[in-house]
Order: sequence, then structure tokens, then C-alpha cells
Amino acid sequence: MNNKFTVADFWEAKNNGKKITMLTAYDYPTAKILDEAGVDSILVGDSLGMVVLGYEDTVKVTMEDMLHHIKAVSRGTKRALLIGDMPFLSYHTGKYESVRNAGRLMCEGGCKAVKLEGGSEITEDIKAIIAAGIPVMGHLGYTPQSINIFGGHKSQGKTIETARKILKDSLILQDAGVFSIVLECVPYKVASFISERLDIPTISIGSGSGCDGQVLVTHDILGLYRDFTPKHAKKYFEMGNKIEEAAKLYIKEVEELVFPNEKNSFIVDDSVIEQLRREA
Ligand code: KIV
Repeated sequence: MNNKFTVADFWEAKNNGKKITMLTAYDYPTAKILDEAGVDSILVGDSLGMVVLGYEDTVKVTMEDMLHHIKAVSRGTKRALLIGDMPFLSYHTGKYESVRNAGRLMCEGGCKAVKLEGGSEITEDIKAIIAAGIPVMGHLGYTPQSINIFGGHKSQGKTIETARKILKDSLILQDAGVFSIVLECVPYKVASFISERLDIPTISIGSGSGCDGQVLVTHDILGLYRDFTPKHAKKYFEMGNKIEEAAKLYIKEVEELVFPNEKNSFIVDDSVIEQLRREA
């Protein structure tokens, strides 16, 4: 459990049929808990824009937002492979910018790999980043940074044309050198078929158990983001409700003078108070 999980372990897992586990984190304490729980990989996803920063989508997330959170997560991650999302437009404006931004996430942030959304249109950026020594994870199917093109959060790959396109892009990304590909909201039979065709592992988010691993947004599995729960997410706990319960109890106890009590307070010898009174 102490050995670091690396890109090579992603490939070994695929070869051995071991499912790869991945969750998102955006802060130090959550990263530490997930790492100690034994998750193989931690993703600082740009989903942080919605679940942590309260933006309406991921399009508003900046390089500075990503760096701030990747730094915190990297301090809490000892074993899991730490991957950082490249935010919208940090890799569409030329190879030089793509390498520079990926390099910042790695050198300043501390992640060990980066994830980019898109297919054939970004292969030159991907090749340049990999040539600089930075491992890249691909992301196909529903790609949230293109929400304005898709017109909403929608499953992709339901028609022969779109399924063929995702398969073709998967093979192109594999040839470009990505070490793994996230398939988001792709019908599970299409995702299984693609996973069988690829030598590199696929990681599903809403794309079924035929992929080589799974990723979910931690705020979704904990019930911490109550604005919206995607169909593909499984809620393991209702932590949002628990936080609300705790906050209501705290308010009640403060107002009713139940908290703080002596156990939560520091004591002083009465002579000090007497002296203060005399001096007043
Ligand atoms: O931003 C994100 O959290 C993602 C998902 C794959 C989980 O990209």
C-alpha cells in the first residue's frame, strides 16, 4: 500500500484485470483521507468549479483556480497518482501554451499527470506535452468544457456516427501517447467495446463496468453538492444533510447557552479576576 501508484501501474492493472479506482479531491484533508483509504488515483478535476467554487459550469475555471487546489491536494497525497485537469482554453491556443500550462500544473502544483478533454483536434497539444515529459490522460464522450456545444449534460455515443467518432478518437489518443482515457457518459456497451479495443486503460464516469476503472466526483458520492446529482453518481452518504444537522444543533446550543461549557473553556485562578476587579 505504501508504493506510489504510477502510470505504469495503470497499464499493469489493465493487463492483470484489476479495476483502477479514482476519485476527485480539491483540498488537503479530503486528499489525505482518500489516499489513506487506498484509492489508486486522485483527480483534481475542474468539476471544482461547480462543487467547490459555485460556478455554473467548468468553463469559468482558471489556471490559478486549478493551481491553488492542486497544491493543497498534493500536500495530502502520498500514494495515489495525482492528476490535474487542464482548464478550458489552457490548451487550445497553441502547443507552447499547452506545454507551459501543463508544466505549471506539474512543477508549481505538484501533480504527476494532466488530463485534457477532446480528441483528434488536440493531438498536437497532447504530443507536445508528452514530449516534455508530462503524462497525459485523455477524456472523451461527454466533455464538460464543451457544454455550450453539446447544449447540456448529455450522454454521447448513442448513434453509430457518434459511437464511431469516440472509438476513432480513442485510437488516435492512444497513438498520440496518452496513458489512459476517461470515457464520460458513453453507453456502457460502446464503452466496453472501446475498452476491449484499446491497450491502455479506460476509466468510466457513467460509462459502465466494462471499462478498466471508475472515477466519481467525491462531492457526489458524499452528498455534499446538493444543487445537482448526475444519474451516473452513487451517493454513499448524505454528508450535506449531516452538515446541516450539525450546524442547526450548534446554533441551538449557542443560543440556549449549552455550548460552550466548562470542558470547552480555559480556567484561571480566581485571584487573577479579583486583582483585575481591584484595578478596574
Ligand atoms: O472534472 C472532473 O471531475 C472530471 C471527471 C472525470 C470526474 O473530469
